[in-house]
Amino acid sequence: MELRKVYDERRSVNFFDKNRGLDDNLLKDIVNLAVLAPSAFNLQPWEIIAVKTKDAKERLLKLSNNQDKVIDAPVTLIVVGDKNGYDKSNPVWAEMLQTLGGNNEAVEGAQGAAAFLYGTSEERKLKFAESNGGLLAMSLMYAAQSFGVDSHPMSGIDFDGIKKEFGLDDNKTVVMTIALGYFDKAQSLYPRRPRRGYNDIVKEV
Ligand SMILES: Cc1cc2nc3c(=O)[nH]c(=O)nc-3n(C[C@H](O)[C@H](O)[C@H](O)COP(=O)(O)O)c2cc1C
Repeated sequence: MELRKVYDERRSVNFFDKNRGLDDNLLKDIVNLAVLAPSAFNLQPWEIIAVKTKDAKERLLKLSNNQDKVIDAPVTLIVVGDKNGYDKSNPVWAEMLQTLGGNNEAVEGAQGAAAFLYGTSEERKLKFAESNGGLLAMSLMYAAQSFGVDSHPMSGIDFDGIKKEFGLDDNKTVVMTIALGYFDKAQSLYPRRPRRGYNDIVKEV
């Protein structure tokens, strides 16, 4: 699908067709396309929990202000950011070492820079996890749209509750959740509300 069309057609779809599943391979395609999103040092400090089963959906519903789409949509993704993703334990560093032809010095330099930039305060760690995770989230929604799959992002949720309920450790942060599936055509979607444009939001200096 042409990119412009993807932007035009993506909507936050409040009503999902309860009778239409999302093919597992299609979900994989969406995620594998979305991970082309940029990330700091290409560290990809993110993971996704795909909530698919009835039981998991019900657990998530309670922590999502009872937003029905969590139940109606075939899948809801919990997008998780890793506050420690700059750390040497991230497997991306090993890939970088290989890509750089075994140049240890270059990788150690990058590791030091990343640790300084993203690991020296709680605020930096959180910004690192949430900014990169946010880009993945947007990328997921556009990737889904490009395959004709509708989405709905949610941050009206209990972030800490979800973190506990789904067994995420302290270094992880729930960025948002995204319901995926197909719009229930029996419902009507309110028209897209206008956006503030360049003249409203850009300050040239
Ligand atoms: C980070 C984020 C969190 C959101 N959280 C919720 C939510 O919890 N519940 C909801 O109904 N809509 C939520 N929305 C959807 C917005 O209301 C919607 O994106 C906005 O009104 C623009 O509509 P559109 O996405 O159809 O263009 C959220 C959107 C974003 C980007």
